[in-house]
Amino acid sequence: MSFPQKPEKLLERIVLASSNPGDLVLDPFCGYGTTAAVCSKNDRRWITIDLGPQQIEISKRRLEKINTIGLNPFKVLTDANLVEDVTKYNYLIHGECLDVMKILIAKGIRVDLIYADPPFNTGQRFDSGFVDKFPSIKDYMAWLRPRSEAMRDILKDTGSLYHHCDYRTNAHVRLMLDEVLP
Ligand SMILES: C[S@@+](CC[C@H](N)C(=O)[O-])C[C@H]1O[C@@H](n2cnc3c(N)ncnc32)[C@H](O)[C@@H]1O
Repeated sequence: MSFPQKPEKLLERIVLASSNPGDLVLDPFCGYGTTAAVCSKNDRRWITIDLGPQQIEISKRRLEKINTIGLNPFKVLTDANLVEDVTKYNYLIHGECLDVMKILIAKGIRVDLIYADPPFNTGQRFDSGFVDKFPSIKDYMAWLRPRSEAMRDILKDTGSLYHHCDYRTNAHVRLMLDEVLP
């Protein structure tokens, strides 16, 4: 089973409603690169992160096809310390998003929009090797909170954050984000 890739139409609505051309968009849970694909097609800059090698490879191939039309080139990195100029390059980064965001924050990088589509704690094992299962909701929230705090810290004061979850965690995520976000 493959985890649900989000429709480009959904991401397009979010990106067009909450960012301007040239803005920098972050997706810390890249999956198959839907956010980056939509950003490339709509003149937004992007950084996207995933810890799955298969997700990075599939996203790379998907984004290479779009990048032929002369947008910012993108770099694929396994070390976020190598991020240079976010005005010249987009970045597909293989790594743990918490570690990567901390490095980007330390570099002074701030983003205009975040789309976060993290594990939903569905209990499923996906064919990418990704296991969407936490021992308990408490463990899930303990995992999510520091990543949400890093998203807060990398987001500009004027920025927007979209967090995707489902009925399993909705109430918990809302309460946590109320605490974490200013
Ligand atoms: C629900 S999928 C994202 C789907 C994506 N929105 C799309 O349209 O293709 C969640 C992704 O988060 C990645 N992931 C899970 N934990 C992560 C972490 N700590 N850091 C970076 N990526 C992570 C998984 O490998 C998986 O690809």
